[in-house]
Amino acid sequence: MASDSAPASSEAVTDRAEAPAFDTSVAHVARVYNYWLGGKDNFAADRAAAEQAMAAFPDIVLSARANRAFLRRTVTYLARQAGIRQFLDIGTGIPSANNTHEVAQSVAPDSRIVYVDNDPVVLAHARALLTSTPDGVTDYIDADLRHADQILAKAAQTLDFTKPVAVMLMAILQHLSETDDPYKVVRTLMAAVPAGSYLVLSHPARDIHAAEMAAMATQLNKMMAEKVTFRAWAEVEPFFAGLELVEPGMTNVPGWRPENEEEAASPAALWGGVARKP
Ligand SMILES: C[S@@+](CC[C@H](N)C(=O)[O-])C[C@H]1O[C@@H](n2cnc3c(N)ncnc32)[C@H](O)[C@@H]1O
Repeated sequence: MASDSAPASSEAVTDRAEAPAFDTSVAHVARVYNYWLGGKDNFAADRAAAEQAMAAFPDIVLSARANRAFLRRTVTYLARQAGIRQFLDIGTGIPSANNTHEVAQSVAPDSRIVYVDNDPVVLAHARALLTSTPDGVTDYIDADLRHADQILAKAAQTLDFTKPVAVMLMAILQHLSETDDPYKVVRTLMAAVPAGSYLVLSHPARDIHAAEMAAMATQLNKMMAEKVTFRAWAEVEPFFAGLELVEPGMTNVPGWRPENEEEAASPAALWGGVARKP
């Protein structure tokens, strides 16, 4: 955690004409995920969907926690070992423990972080994400991952795209279907950053605990506003095309440089990896 917190260094950028209303009648992924992580920012419809998913795949709660631990370890790696000082975290989620700016700025206080999400509840929490060390910057963009060009244009107000950037897509690409062409979206993002930049992503796996994951996807797609497409190893690996995966490559997330045996042994069903743009 960053010990030195200062007021928000900039305003959240949004295209919305007025404050968005929260639709509490239908489950939304940011709030469902918040429930799995033990948060309080969720409503009855979110809890019902989350519980149905837990009935289908009981390890989803540990899987969500393992994803947060993967985020902490990868951001620490990028700040400490890779020397990254700029992070574009798309699909931020409702603030939780170890948010990207807290992890990065605890290693490098001058880190600059741009958060992006399209959920109005996450936007409402932007203030909590916009705390920064005095030497660093945090910013928030209210935008959809499908509009990568818009995200890049706005992020350029805070990030210097002539210097390396870590593009973070943690547990978000499952919300883009094949018709959204998620591979093109990732290519567009990575084309905008220079050599020495990184892509870090995690993605729910279709081929780990396959039967349970399929049952969970069916439940979520019945109850949640954002539909899910879980993908197998061979479908996630191409997101890293043209990039150099750092050791140990793409793994189920607990296997990516775990810090202790408990982390390594956590059940999870998410492919994840970190790769460098040559
Ligand atoms: C499962 S949460 C993951 C949160 C965080 N990245 C993590 O790994 O802990 C997915 C987040 O992506 C956001 N999201 C889903 N589809 C999106 C889209 N098309 N554009 C922007 N954000 C999106 C949701 O609102 C939610 O906050």
